[in-house]
Amino acid sequence: MMPSIASKPPSFVSTVLLILSTILLIQTQAAKPHLINFRSPNLYPEGLAYDPSAQHFMVGALRHRTIHSVSDAGVVDLLISDPTLPENVTFLGLAVDSVNNRLLVAVQAMEPLPHLSALAAYDLRTRQRIFLTPLPSADGDGARQVSNDVAVDFKGNAYVTNSAANFIWKVNAQGEASIFSKSPLFTAYPVDRDSSHSFCGLNGVAYVSKGYLLVVQTNRGKMFKVDAEDGAAREVLLPEDLPLADGIAIRSDGDVVVVSMNKLWFLKSQDSWGEGVVYDKTELDAARFPTSVAVAAEDRVYVIYGHVDEGMMGNSERETFSIAEVRSEKESKEESVWIFVLIGLGLAYFMFWRFQMRQLVGNMNKKTN
Ligand SMILES: *[C@@H]1O[C@H](CO)[C@@H](O)[C@H](O)[C@H]1NC(C)=O
Repeated sequence: MMPSIASKPPSFVSTVLLILSTILLIQTQAAKPHLINFRSPNLYPEGLAYDPSAQHFMVGALRHRTIHSVSDAGVVDLLISDPTLPENVTFLGLAVDSVNNRLLVAVQAMEPLPHLSALAAYDLRTRQRIFLTPLPSADGDGARQVSNDVAVDFKGNAYVTNSAANFIWKVNAQGEASIFSKSPLFTAYPVDRDSSHSFCGLNGVAYVSKGYLLVVQTNRGKMFKVDAEDGAAREVLLPEDLPLADGIAIRSDGDVVVVSMNKLWFLKSQDSWGEGVVYDKTELDAARFPTSVAVAAEDRVYVIYGHVDEGMMGNSERETFSIAEVRSEKESKEESVWIFVLIGLGLAYFMFWRFQMRQLVGNMNKKTN
């Protein structure tokens, strides 16, 4: 009697294919995080955005008044050149408005240039500027404002952080600016005045599709949830501060990543950011001065290594910068557990089939004897 299972044995070929594809899967998972080195002399990019429709990154220049696209393979193209802006002004945060096919960019004049904090909007099809909106100070005392990062909602409204005065501007799709959120919470915690980044308050900002913003603060290491209708702010309760937090981005699964010059935090929340947890941290190379984080295709997380600190000193030359993928070790481990389960199942299947074959051959031998 032949056992019924042996009447349909998996072919040797399909078993080998199964094992091979498993090995392939392990290899792709174990491959090093993606590193994009690109050449653009003295660019010193601070901001990083990803354009999902064009499938490339965008970076802005520290002094050249240019914005460049960078492909997965590190090919750099000049996207926007705006010589009508004052000489040597800096492009900081960038955000892609996919609905209107626009790029929104924070424009900032650093010391010793005459004061200018503005938001520029460019048409990504024609590459022409749509507006340049100077951003008002709150008390008109003439102090330098710092327009640092920008996020955009689905109506084309831009939200720009002011790192000097700790408030958020709103610029609507027509380019009209207002002071949008100036909560006392933004200045509720003391700042260490001796720290090198004590001057830098509200910084990275991201828009969450449920109608609020998440904003991080460099000098106080806090995160805030800001209502995108009325600007009301709440502190996001976290088990730890995020010191020197600079950029923030949101993955499509709702997880949030925050970058500082030496770390990337991975955060989750169960209650739409009333409170959150840090589920992983990855060390970054402070010597290359990461400043921004963006989420690209397949929810991959990338930081820009723009050496902005060096560029600000003004007396150095640098040709090459990089955009580096950063992974959560813990997430990768969870994925590899599944791979080992798959390998185990594959092997068990193979052994069982061998066992059945041996029995079959044994039975046949008995018959022929
Ligand atoms: C812009 O930077 C260049 C090079 O550092 C300098 O020579 C020039 O004077 C600067 N222009 C202004 C307006 O500050």
